[in-house]
Amino acid sequence: MVRICFVCLGNICRSPTAEGVMRGLLADAGCEDQVEIDSAGTSAHHVGESPDRRSTKHAKRRGVILEGASRQFVVSDFGRFEYIVAMDRSNLQRLRAMAPNDAARARVVLLRDFDPESPDGSEVPDPYYGGDAGFEEVLDVCEAGCRGLLETLRARNEL
Ligand code: 4NP
Repeated sequence: MVRICFVCLGNICRSPTAEGVMRGLLADAGCEDQVEIDSAGTSAHHVGESPDRRSTKHAKRRGVILEGASRQFVVSDFGRFEYIVAMDRSNLQRLRAMAPNDAARARVVLLRDFDPESPDGSEVPDPYYGGDAGFEEVLDVCEAGCRGLLETLRARNEL
């Protein structure tokens, strides 16, 4: 079993989107039983809330279902997940600063670094204060990143 946690700031827009996209890709590949997926936020501002309505609406149009309630990432999550996948560099840094040791720190990666078409260090842009185009872009880059992550898991014989 591979365990993956996607992490953004609020856990209501980007990380639930990445979680839903990854679940869809794994189901299409028939691998959903081999991977445990979760998401979390580095902030506590939206704890308990459902995914943002705008994220849910745009995702649904592509057949991607967003579920769950926002939770804050906690230090014990480093012991639960092999892949801690941050949406942007500020959350990557926050997570690395929380990591209890170097092995845990090394499990924190950026989603778009799995996309061979994206330059190293690319981010999933925060759509919260913007319009529809931002939510579509989040879906586009999450799809590309999650496809790359799936390929990486296959290449590493983790699936
Ligand atoms: P997320 O988006 O980190 O992708 O869930 C945001 C959600 C809320 C806020 C910022 C980003 N906020 O400032 O409340």
